[in-house]
Amino acid sequence: VLRDMSTLPRVYVTRQIPPEGLKILQDSGQVQFELWDSDDVPVPRKELLQKVKGVDGLLCVLTEKIDAELLDAAGSNLKVVSTMSVGFDHLSLEELKKSRGIRVGYTPEVLTDAVAELTVALLLATSRRLIEATHEAKTGGWGTWRTLWLCGYELANSTVGILGLGRIGVAIAERLAPFKVKKFIYTDVAPRPELAKAINAEYVTLDELAKQSDFLSICCALTPETKEICNKNLFSKMKNTSIFINTSSHIRGGVVNQEDLYEALSTGQIAGAGLDVTVPEPLPTTHPLFTLKNCVILPHIASASYSTRNAMSALAANNLLLGLRSQPMIKELKL
Ligand code: DGY
Repeated sequence: VLRDMSTLPRVYVTRQIPPEGLKILQDSGQVQFELWDSDDVPVPRKELLQKVKGVDGLLCVLTEKIDAELLDAAGSNLKVVSTMSVGFDHLSLEELKKSRGIRVGYTPEVLTDAVAELTVALLLATSRRLIEATHEAKTGGWGTWRTLWLCGYELANSTVGILGLGRIGVAIAERLAPFKVKKFIYTDVAPRPELAKAINAEYVTLDELAKQSDFLSICCALTPETKEICNKNLFSKMKNTSIFINTSSHIRGGVVNQEDLYEALSTGQIAGAGLDVTVPEPLPTTHPLFTLKNCVILPHIASASYSTRNAMSALAANNLLLGLRSQPMIKELKL
């Protein structure tokens, strides 16, 4: 029996998402959907505003700003927005939920392992100066063996600080512990004893976190309270030998004041920084941070493994379908 697809709820998908999510939408028989069929460029805003007209559901990624303008363009049919990300600073939550009662799905947890793994890779690449080292090897800087050449800092016997202890912070600590870290410390809006217990981490003030950490890993959400929390004041308290790492997942780079970070790195206030998130993204190639040997910048790839990106797309698709059926989503943002 041929079903009349035209009566099904309409969905717009703002990106060519990984196959698992697409298959779920296709096989569901529950929606008719249209897709911006590229992964290389985001859908232009103008086109997006056209395409969302009258849709019941929207599946987006973090490059689309879901704000009042877009929601007005969509109109009152829109019931569900499902983002293929754990971060949601691209969504105007006030507008979505409070004013319009639109339900929001997101993709926490499925990316925790991938982000924690990448954080360890970035931390080691930064502290052991891997990018500098491969560059030297390739470009003739590799002369005789030298006693202090390309020396870095090791995790053994170190104190690792975590700013914002959530699932990802715990997962990072679990992976770093076997490197013989001496002590884990953390700060957050309040102590989180349950999580801290799992990794034997001590709650300290932000000041103490800055002072004691040999490695400081930023894993917090971007909120009004954490905006540029990593600034001159924080860097000035850190050790000259310390390494700063930002893979904070809920967010883009906004927890860091990049001018202050540049200053701290170029004056030797801290030893190095590894960043997976920046402001803006992409960071212009002319940005001063790119001139520093002690700054390793990645293009926001923390969750970029095939399995995780597929899991994210599947979760986003399932959240969307459940939301459209007025059922509880697997991962719904509660306000
Ligand atoms: C997210 O999901 O918010 C990350 O930034 C990309 O995986």
